[in-house]
Amino acid sequence: MRRLAYAEAGPSLALIKYWGKASAHNNTPATGSLAVTLSGLTSRTQAELADADCITVNGQVQHLERFTPFLDSLRTELGLKGACFAVDSTNNFPTSAGLASSSSGFAALAGALTLLAGREPEPRLVSRLARLGSGSATRPVYGGFTVFDAGTEEAVAEHDENFWPEFRVVLAVVREGAKAVSSRVGMERSRLTSPYYAPWVSSSVAVLADARRALAQRDWKVLGPLIRQSYLRMFSTMFSSDPPLIYWQPESLALIQALESLRAKGYQAWETMDAGPQVKVFCPADQAEALVTELDKRVPGLRFLTAAPGPGLRTWWDPS
Ligand code: DP6
Repeated sequence: MRRLAYAEAGPSLALIKYWGKASAHNNTPATGSLAVTLSGLTSRTQAELADADCITVNGQVQHLERFTPFLDSLRTELGLKGACFAVDSTNNFPTSAGLASSSSGFAALAGALTLLAGREPEPRLVSRLARLGSGSATRPVYGGFTVFDAGTEEAVAEHDENFWPEFRVVLAVVREGAKAVSSRVGMERSRLTSPYYAPWVSSSVAVLADARRALAQRDWKVLGPLIRQSYLRMFSTMFSSDPPLIYWQPESLALIQALESLRAKGYQAWETMDAGPQVKVFCPADQAEALVTELDKRVPGLRFLTAAPGPGLRTWWDPS
């Protein structure tokens, strides 16, 4: 009988960034991150046992190099030596474009394979396994706000998705399509070549601690500047890498400048960016709609998506 295991996860968007590894072999982070799991955007993954590994993402068969080390680790960890998997994953949002599809994709894949192995997809186990695919994938196993601390092997739940109902993220899609340099390659380049990498790592400890406190108070005025500090310091290591990593597009900078002037008019809208040109803006729910209108006026022609804190990983068997 065909047994299909399913899992669904939302992308994990970092307020405070993971950029650099304490151990590349173990995929543990050099900097701790604080992130929110998003609602509405999902990676849905279906997995079954097969004669050979085959992975499709959004209907396209993937090269297995990026996946084989992960699948091999899971075969060992889950006691599935010799097993192969047919995996089909679908994202309902742009893939590999800096909208954190690797976080939701690997979290869902780890969840589906855990279920397929006959194990309870208990969050701590799945978070630890998801890390072997992508560090950021440890986080969306949990809903709401999560922390993945430096040097650790799994994320922890910080506050659930109902903790801050007025919290929103506006995503401005500057460019669709895959990025030129993956986070994995980029962060290793920063570690090896940027003179700012060491201060980035050491200064991130206080930024994370302060941000956790500000989040616990739901205090935009303190949290906002820390969000900005984290991504701009991360980008300082990117710009100063050799060769440099320049993920920004003209519209990215135009949005950053527009937000600066909107804050001067009273918006609590604080942007972040990842390894791609998209700009993601954290803001209160009652400002989100007007913010999109203002940004669209100042930087026309972009697609905007709005998300709230969402649930963590779900897994289930094919009901048929
Ligand atoms: C900039 O988790 O994609 O989005 O562990 O090498 O797969 P690997 O990297 P990945 O890096 C995410 C980096 C980031 C910041 C963040 O999400 O914290």
